[in-house]
Amino acid sequence: MKGLLLAGGHGTRLRPLTYTGNKHLLPIANKPMLLYGLEHLKSAGIGEVAVILGPIKEGVEETLGDGSSFGIKITYVDQPEPKGLAHAVLISEDFMAGEPFVMYLGDNLLKQGVQDFVRAFDRDGADCVVGVSPVKDPSRFGIAEIDEGKLVRLVEKPKEPKSNLALIGVYVFGPAIFDSVKKIKPSWRNELEITDAIQRLLDEGRRVRVQKVNGWWKDTGRPEDLLEANQLVLSDLEGNVEGEVSEDAQVTGRVAIGKDSKVLEGSRIRGPVIIGKNCLIGPNVYVGPYTSVGDECLLKDTEVENSIVMNGSRIESGKKIVDSLIGSHSTILNSDATLPKGQKLIVGERSVLQI
Ligand code: G1P
Repeated sequence: MKGLLLAGGHGTRLRPLTYTGNKHLLPIANKPMLLYGLEHLKSAGIGEVAVILGPIKEGVEETLGDGSSFGIKITYVDQPEPKGLAHAVLISEDFMAGEPFVMYLGDNLLKQGVQDFVRAFDRDGADCVVGVSPVKDPSRFGIAEIDEGKLVRLVEKPKEPKSNLALIGVYVFGPAIFDSVKKIKPSWRNELEITDAIQRLLDEGRRVRVQKVNGWWKDTGRPEDLLEANQLVLSDLEGNVEGEVSEDAQVTGRVAIGKDSKVLEGSRIRGPVIIGKNCLIGPNVYVGPYTSVGDECLLKDTEVENSIVMNGSRIESGKKIVDSLIGSHSTILNSDATLPKGQKLIVGERSVLQI
């Protein structure tokens, strides 16, 4: 079994953060999102993965390299234009060389990993296993319609969904999929849809199975999704303080603080919170639940809660910042403006802001 990890696309809904970088490298609990997928593939026993690179490649090869530091062999495949998920499969045919593979959309996070899907594929001698999960807003996803326990139809982003079971972005395919992706036509959004290719497998009487996800799953298309994914991962955080905490500071709940970071007097950290390496937190800082602070950040006279603060940022705002995404190497300074308590910000990389 091989792996196909997708890191293409423009990430338009996450602008301005995605103007300057690849969406799949945005950090969730201080780890680039794409690494969660890579680790899941590895845990399922997969040793060779093709990573699909789209127009915004910056940082992906630097982060994953040849895969050796993750115990995986990585090959990069270019998809310069976003021609769809089925197109990504099409251009990976040589790499797969007739082997079955797990396709994982790199902007999805799963608690349980992909082993259940691989097991279902082997157990049922399937041509395809599709991961699904119930959602509240099915028209945003590909949807699986089930009748009397059998998969009858797959529809991409239906206007009037007949089911609430969304395709979660994890698929296991046998080699039959390559024929299917060659036969389908581009959709209304001018993409070759993997959903249509799987429908074709169904129409041809191939074995297509659906497998429900155990545990949580999160697609990270929008800013609020990133914050929710961050909460979900931090819910399982184990506390571990490697840095230094002043005697006049308070750290409660599950808090991880990286090496060479310092929490100075008058500061309070209420977990679950993760703080990276080499940070200076304080004096007089409050970091509230479900916040991730990357490496080399400086926080002073400020309050941050339920937010993601990326590497190298500096916040000295004198205000309370909540539900926010602060891009790497940004600076947020104080102004004498009187603002309502609780500022919600999405700040692009290397921005300077006074609030
Ligand atoms: C893609 C798939 C869709 C699936 C979704 C999961 O949508 O086309 O079937 O439900 O990923 O995240 P896209 O992200 O391209 O809109």
